[in-house]
Order: sequence, then C-alpha cells, then structure tokens
Amino acid sequence: MGGLTYIDFLAKFGIGGAHPGGIGLTKSILDDEKITNECTILDAGCGTGQTAAYLYDQYKAEITCLELNPIMVEKAKSRFQTLQLPIQLIQGSVEEIPFQSNTFDLVLCESVLAFVNKPKALKEYYRVLKPGGRLIANEMTINAKLNKQEEQEIIQFYNIDSLLLETDWMRLLEETGFKNIEMKAHHLNLMEGNTAQEFNFSQGFEPELFSILNQHGNMLLKYHDILSHRIFTCSK
Ligand SMILES: C[S@@+](CC[C@H](N)C(=O)[O-])C[C@H]1O[C@@H](n2cnc3c(N)ncnc32)[C@H](O)[C@@H]1O
Repeated sequence: MGGLTYIDFLAKFGIGGAHPGGIGLTKSILDDEKITNECTILDAGCGTGQTAAYLYDQYKAEITCLELNPIMVEKAKSRFQTLQLPIQLIQGSVEEIPFQSNTFDLVLCESVLAFVNKPKALKEYYRVLKPGGRLIANEMTINAKLNKQEEQEIIQFYNIDSLLLETDWMRLLEETGFKNIEMKAHHLNLMEGNTAQEFNFSQGFEPELFSILNQHGNMLLKYHDILSHRIFTCSK
C-alpha cells in the first residue's frame, strides 16, 4: 500500500459521512438528543465536516470541529466557507484536545476512537465536557472475538491498535468515569445503511488508493458478520 492508510484514502477521496450509517444515521441519533442553539458541540475528528454542517444548519448551535488530517481540514474548511457557516475548525488531535476543561455540552465522535489511543481520547472527551455534558460515539465494534490472524488482518488494514467488543467499549467508558452509559439500538453491519456517500476528490491522488478501496470492500465482505459498529451515549 506504499505507506498509504485507510484514512489517507478517506481524506483524498473526500468521503463525507465516513462512519457506519452515514449522515442518515447521524440525523436520527441527533434527533434523540436535546440540542438547542445554546449548546456548545465538539465534532471530534470531523473529517470533511458533513455532520458539523448539518448540526449548524439544523440547530444553529455553537459548533467546533477538531481534525488531525490536513487534507480533511482543508476540505472541511472549504465546505464551511462555501456554505458560509460560522463553525470553528481547529487542526489538532483528540488525544490532546486544545480546549479548556468543561467547555462542551456535547462531544460527537463518529468513527474516530477506533483510530486513536482510545483511553487517552476518552479521558480528553471527559475533560472537555461540562458536568452533565453528553458524549455520543459511533464506533467500530466486533460482534465476537477473532483469532489472532484475523484480528491482525483487520488491525493492519485500518492501522489501528485494537478491536473492541461491545463489552470492552462499555468498560472503557465506565473506567473513564462516564455515567448513564447506553448502547443505542441500531446496529448495522458496516456494509449497510450508508447508501448516500459524498465524495470530494483531491486532484492527482495516488492510484494505490483504489487498491485500499478494494481491500476495504473485501474486508467488509469477509467479516460481514463480525465487523460491526455500536452507538454509545453517556454523560459526565
Ligand atoms: C473514519 S473517519 C470519520 C470522519 C468523520 N467523523 C465522519 O464521520 O465523516 C476518521 C477521522 O478521524 C480523524 N482522526 C484520526 N486520528 C485523529 C486524531 N488523533 N485526532 C483528530 N482526528 C483524528 C481522521 O483524520 C478522519 O477524518
């Protein structure tokens, strides 16, 4: 793969709603939350900013985006400028969030924890949330334990450090200090529910990225009954 990662593929293809269920699922999850124009919201690992743009459009809330990948940052910035949305966008890591403690009413994390140091990022989410603030996380989850070889195949492809079961996520959230931890009912496998994907291609991207797209498809097919996701909500 010439050093290119799955995240490089998402960034250079400019995939909006790059999380299981896509923007459709995001809308239905947000519908269940009490969001007003007074809410301060962090879209942690915002990608190209599709969810953040929706959040502003729908709720006129105070939205902040944090994203590490420079190509994602550029694409999100250009989306917000084109649509003239007053969304603050900061380049930085969810493992070291450049905001003071007790800043946000809601942290939204759509398919980001899977790619980072999970305990570290969760501690940061907890820190920047106001007391009573909510975390919503939609994250890759395996339905059952895999053997070492299968586990390594997935870990290497996504360039991640671990694969978690639902119970592992619940435990991690609890250990971080979160309360009212709930797992939302929707759980699709990773091949369902994301039919209206959005693309914003970078010019002159590497042809190897098609091979990552292909491998991704094969991975989803091969592990369709194992590789899934869960939506967790909890509060500080
Ligand atoms: C699967 S994509 C999801 C993007 C977006 N949340 C969405 O649903 O479209 C994962 C995102 O996390 C970002 N990311 C990875 N590591 C990060 C980190 N340490 N801090 C902030 N963002 C990170 C990637 O650059 C990528 O945009």
